Amino acid sequence: MKRIILIGYMGSGKTTIGRQLALALGLQFYDLDWYIELRYHKKVSEIFAEQGEEHFRDLEQRMLHEVAEFEDVVVSCGGGTPCFFDNMDYMNQQGETVYLKATPEVLCMHLKMGHTIRPLILGKDKEGELLPYIQQTLAEREPFYMKAKHVLDVSLMDNFEKIAITIDLLRKELKV
Ligand code: S3P
Repeated sequence: MKRIILIGYMGSGKTTIGRQLALALGLQFYDLDWYIELRYHKKVSEIFAEQGEEHFRDLEQRMLHEVAEFEDVVVSCGGGTPCFFDNMDYMNQQGETVYLKATPEVLCMHLKMGHTIRPLILGKDKEGELLPYIQQTLAEREPFYMKAKHVLDVSLMDNFEKIAITIDLLRKELKV
């Protein structure tokens, strides 16, 4: 039975890499945010806006406990998932956790290109606020992320060809 759990900051490519890895390994792919949206019939951004972050973190933990019971899956988590409750220890018990690590500059670039509405950075991309925000919050989150069983540097992953290289590196690291 295989269960691979990808973690990392927003914009590190968890969903993109997770989907490709699952395809390569013939596993099911689950994105925790999408799973939450399906189960609650609401966008993550709406849950944040209407019920607040604390409520979102409760739902997120509950849904993590559903998804991380599934077998033969690749799961990509939200950027904050490892940093609340005992989620990181739980994920380490449930599967092969991988931290997709990237520099604040690369994350910033990816987030500026992205289309997803991310409540935590809404409106921050305008006046040069985004990079300092990422630097600060990444520093706070990294102690949680570094508890993952595997760490993979994805800073160079900026086009499709490099995704393939990243998948190869990941498979070597995970021996799958
Ligand atoms: C969050 C990251 C988001 C989503 C929510 C909160 C965070 O997921 O779960 O907006 O706290 O970093 P992605 O990392 O997939 O953007």
